[in-house]
Amino acid sequence: MKLLLLCLGLSLVYADQEESHDVVTSNFDMSKVEGEWYSIVLASDRREYIEENGFMRVFVKSIHVLPNSSLFFQFHMKTNGECISINFTCDKTEVQDEYSVEYRGINKFHILETDYEKYIFYTLTNYYEGTQFKLMELYARKKNLSQKIKERFEKLCQENGIVKENILDLTKVDRCLEAREMGDAPASSTK
Ligand SMILES: *[C@@H]1O[C@H](CO)[C@@H](O)[C@H](O)[C@H]1NC(C)=O
Ligand SMILES: *[C@@H]1O[C@H](CO)[C@@H](O)[C@H](O)[C@H]1NC(C)=O
Ligand SMILES: *[C@@H]1O[C@H](CO)[C@@H](O)[C@H](O)[C@H]1NC(C)=O
Repeated sequence: MKLLLLCLGLSLVYADQEESHDVVTSNFDMSKVEGEWYSIVLASDRREYIEENGFMRVFVKSIHVLPNSSLFFQFHMKTNGECISINFTCDKTEVQDEYSVEYRGINKFHILETDYEKYIFYTLTNYYEGTQFKLMELYARKKNLSQKIKERFEKLCQENGIVKENILDLTKVDRCLEAREMGDAPASSTK
């Protein structure tokens, strides 16, 4: 009996290492979400909003937690071929782990899953004049991410009703990395 339990215990430990471990799905420690990120996959049930010149086709640069617990996001986006900087301050809502920001309506989002060190999955709903649409995004600490995590995210998008054609791999497009590297002021200026 003891041996069986030991075997079971070991296989659980092993299974945990196989999956990326330290994965968090609620009660996020936002101080660990701080810092540099890259947009890897962008998905929406309204494809036109994430296509070129779509207002939701934004590329993340960094996330910072403000003293009042709101989040400050820095993004770039391409308008008419030019990369511009765009920032958002997102306030907490009354719902656990949820944030909200005004941008073409009200956007409410929350993290679905993260390991803080490699990736974040999050989901956003935009509410505008009685209509709504959904956006799901995968961010990574590096410019690219393993196929395994990308595929798991894509599956999650499809489970949430976003068809495959509306799931865009942003590593294959111009994400304004040049503008990003030329640099806005160091993020410490926001603290
Ligand atoms: C939090 O602080 C930021 C920056 O000062 C400000 O823009 C935002 O409105 C504040 N949010 C709340 C809920 O106080
Ligand atoms: C990103 O990573 C995937 C999977 O590892 C790889 O197939 C792809 O070529 C990479 N893309 C770029 C732009 O490096
Ligand atoms: C966004 O924030 C960064 C850092 O504070 C700043 O350098 C940049 O000018 C801001 N962009 C806009 C459009 O305000």
